Amino acid sequence: MTTTTNFLRLSATRALPLLCLFAACSASAITSGDPAKGKAVYAQRCTACHSIEYNGTGPAHGGLLGRKAGTVPNYAYSSALKASSITWSDETLDKWLSDPEKFIPGQKMWITVPDPAERQDIIAYLRTQTRK
Ligand code: HEC
Repeated sequence: MTTTTNFLRLSATRALPLLCLFAACSASAITSGDPAKGKAVYAQRCTACHSIEYNGTGPAHGGLLGRKAGTVPNYAYSSALKASSITWSDETLDKWLSDPEKFIPGQKMWITVPDPAERQDIIAYLRTQTRK
C-alpha cells in the first residue's frame, strides 16, 4: 500500500511539468479550441455567408490562417478590410470575431461571436481547413 502511494506521488510530481507543457502553458501559443465543436458552430453561424471553398456573401475561408486579410481573389472586400495590414492568426481572428467593427472600423461583416470558447473552437476548425 505504501509503495503504491509513493509511486502515485512520484508520478504526479513527474506528470505536472508534462501537463503544463500540453495544456495550460501552451494555451497562448497553440489554440485551445476543439475543431469538432468549431465545425458545428461554423455550420450554424458562418455558412449563411461563408464556405471553405467558395466566395459567397463573405469570402472563402480555405487557407485562412497565415493569410493576409482581404486577399481572396474575386471577392469584393470593403476598402477598410483591404487596407488593413492584418494577417489572420489565432489572435487577430479572436479579435475580429469578438467585434469586427471595433477591430477594423468600416468593414462589412455584421456579426459577432461573444463567447470566447466558441471563438477558440471556430479558430481551431479553421486551422484544420488551412492545413489541407
Ligand atoms: C451575414 C453574413 C456573414 C456571416 C454570418 C459571417 N460573415 Fe464573415 N464576412 C462577411 C463579410 C461580408 C465579410 C467581408 C468583410 C469586409 O470586406 O469588410 C466577411 C469576412 C470575414 C473574414 C475575413 C476574411 C478575409 O479573407 O480576410 C473572416 C475571417 C470571417 N469573415 C470569419 C467569419 C466567421 C468565422 C463567421 C462565423 C462565426 C462569419 N465570418 C460569419 C459576412 C459574414
